[in-house]
Amino acid sequence: MYNFAKRMEEVSASAVREIIKLMSNPEIISFGGGSPANESFPIDTIQDIIDKALRENGNQILQYGVTEGWKALREAYLEHIAYPKGISASLENVITITGATQGIQLISDVFLDPGDVVLVESPTFLSTLMVFNKNFIKCVPVETDEHGMIMEDLEEKIKRYHPKMLYSIPTFQNPTGITLPLERRKKIAELASTFNMMVMEDDPYGDLRYRGEALPPIKSFDQTGHVILLNSFSKTISPGLRVGTVLAEPEIIQKLIIAKQCADTHTTNLTQVVCAEFLNRGLLPGHLKAITPIYSARMDAMLEGIKNYFPTGTQYIQPEGGLFIWAELPGEPDMQALLEKAVRDCKVAFVPGKPFFVNPEDGRKSLRLNFSSNTPERIEEGMKRLGGVLSGIEIS
Ligand SMILES: Cc1ncc(COP(=O)(O)O)c(C=O)c1O
Repeated sequence: MYNFAKRMEEVSASAVREIIKLMSNPEIISFGGGSPANESFPIDTIQDIIDKALRENGNQILQYGVTEGWKALREAYLEHIAYPKGISASLENVITITGATQGIQLISDVFLDPGDVVLVESPTFLSTLMVFNKNFIKCVPVETDEHGMIMEDLEEKIKRYHPKMLYSIPTFQNPTGITLPLERRKKIAELASTFNMMVMEDDPYGDLRYRGEALPPIKSFDQTGHVILLNSFSKTISPGLRVGTVLAEPEIIQKLIIAKQCADTHTTNLTQVVCAEFLNRGLLPGHLKAITPIYSARMDAMLEGIKNYFPTGTQYIQPEGGLFIWAELPGEPDMQALLEKAVRDCKVAFVPGKPFFVNPEDGRKSLRLNFSSNTPERIEEGMKRLGGVLSGIEIS
């Protein structure tokens, strides 16, 4: 009956959003979604910051703000997040955004026309694929191994397709949990420069590391302004605040400001103040120190569950951080049927692999499991039930 825009034919509701709806049923143990643990939220601190900020500066906070973002947050982001990661930049290199999701949309608006080619990891974050599909962007997958994108395939595809952009999640990738090694990071910066290709580096998970050494972002190797770095406070402080940042050359930031004016004028002042003050009070390192052991224990419980309960021959990646474990089942499983059976009979949910791929058939044997939202005990119980379904064993 309604004559919707053509771009809406290119996207369907996100599989993850549909699964998040299931999480409201407390009986279901959901390994879908990608939410931080409710217990991780620093509620008292945020309450204190908001009380004080409104008392001292309520008029400015409740007024319209500037599109490039709350100055104190942009400064705090540089001092506490960008500089320690080896990035040299100044205020004109930063805009705050309404979550990294908005950054992906705005960067697409600014750089990509219908029909342009973007290279993506295979698999990749499904919401980004949705944004590209909605904008009629042609996504070309780059082959990956257990360490992420394979550089020879990347170079070959750059030469063949002349992409305008590469989209990469180099650290604790969604959905695979893979972290790209140092040499590949350097190589990406070099290829971007050589072939005049933009890189959208999406890094919402980098600070959620449970083992191993931190690696510098691709942006830190960028000598020619080809890399755009997206960060988010969603996984480190709270996704409900809806605050993230883009770091790029000033010319790019100016274009993003125009695109953002069209989208939402500016990100909410109050939540930007919360993030700025959280950083300026020096609370982020202590907060991460408090939450990472919780996530680490949950990740271990899930890895243990795969070993103990999943079918023999299941392949999986052991991440060093982030929120996800990616597994591939042996044989030719019907993932959608398994998901329906798992939810209906055993009250466990996961995300099937297909929506994370440009060519959905590539994900027919895969599934993504999120470990952050359940206690180790519930993970053990959920994995036992899920293992039963995946192995074709009836659970009474
Ligand atoms: C790779 C990746 N990028 C971006 C986002 C979106 O984050 P935000 O809440 O900041 O919009 C997510 C969230 O799951 C993600 O996994």
